[in-house]
Amino acid sequence: MTTHTKPGLRPVNPNFSSGPCAKRPGWSVEALKAAALGRSHRGKIGKAKLEQAIELTREILQVPAGYRIGIVPASDTGAVEMALWSLLGERGVDMVAWESFGSGWVTDVVKQLKLADVRKIEAGYGELPDLTKIDFDRDVVFTWNGTTSGVRVPNGDFIPADRKGLTICDATSAAFAQRLDFEKLDVVTFSWQKVLGGEGAHGMLILSPRAVERLETYKPSWPLPKIFRLTSGGKLIEGIFKGETINTPSMLCVEDYLDALNWAKSIGGLDALIARADANAAVLDRFVGKSSWLGHLATLPATRSNTSVCLHFTDPDVSALDADGQAAFAKGLVSVLDKEGVAYDIGAYRDAPPGLRIWCGATVETSDLEALLPWLDWAFAAQKASLKAAA
Ligand SMILES: Cc1ncc(COP(=O)(O)O)c(C=O)c1O
Repeated sequence: MTTHTKPGLRPVNPNFSSGPCAKRPGWSVEALKAAALGRSHRGKIGKAKLEQAIELTREILQVPAGYRIGIVPASDTGAVEMALWSLLGERGVDMVAWESFGSGWVTDVVKQLKLADVRKIEAGYGELPDLTKIDFDRDVVFTWNGTTSGVRVPNGDFIPADRKGLTICDATSAAFAQRLDFEKLDVVTFSWQKVLGGEGAHGMLILSPRAVERLETYKPSWPLPKIFRLTSGGKLIEGIFKGETINTPSMLCVEDYLDALNWAKSIGGLDALIARADANAAVLDRFVGKSSWLGHLATLPATRSNTSVCLHFTDPDVSALDADGQAAFAKGLVSVLDKEGVAYDIGAYRDAPPGLRIWCGATVETSDLEALLPWLDWAFAAQKASLKAAA
């Protein structure tokens, strides 16, 4: 269904970016007024805030008691890199990737770490690779929710409980929106800027007891910069997991993360966060189901993300265009919506097939997504008219 009539209702919050994501409903800078600004992060107040961020993370994400949770530098990328550079090399590794971020970790391990025994288990945009090919006696690196293709693993059932290798999981666009099976995960990473709408720059690194054991029994042959070092004298630096960060964090960002966590707790914790993301994704799914011009990039419903929903063009005139033509069409559509102030940053990721990517994480209001839908049809009709006129 397309319509040329400009819709009346606008989303109250047009922020549908996949990172940094929309702030929580009702957020304002007032939420940061108790920040420990100008104070040492190692002092009593600063350290207490960092510890609280760790404790609330454990509570809301339901992280098992024996797992360590640390705040580390450089956002999700920092946390993943720390894990790769500190843990890999003890045995062979299976790198599992199906979109840009997962492929980035493959490149790192093959071209930078230059590990000899690497197997790649990959699939293109929209698909999951064959997970039965993974050998869990080896280490395994994968992304729980592929942010740039909107394809996620449905659950952790593909991972055996009695694995010999470690599972290293980039969960940045899944944490707080999808149930992570911690018993099956040895390393989980995410950043504050995704599902809870926090700020970038700080990463979270969650380690299972087995990951800690590896850190304490294996020393990589390559040098590790201070920013990556998790052990000292062969022992885990426990302080990192008690709020003694490696280097200086932003206490403003910490305050903002605490605000996000407290909001999450106030609405009912993990179940409520997941329910919000599911409800948002369902709104888009119903729209796509009826649409004559948009389709899901993720082919299998069970693998469809409830956060980074990626859509491609199914309209015959648009899908007949080459990749550049489709990208230009998408750019025009996204720009019209941006100019109207009804949707910001909803173009597909630069390396992904052309189309739209609409964030449905917990901080997005379902009513805003509902208000966006008629605008999508309207903008499509306008773009299609220009396409026809140019032909
Ligand atoms: C799956 C995935 N991994 C890594 C990153 C990089 O995250 P950051 O910029 O927080 O380091 C992103 C960002 O969108 C992502 O979606």
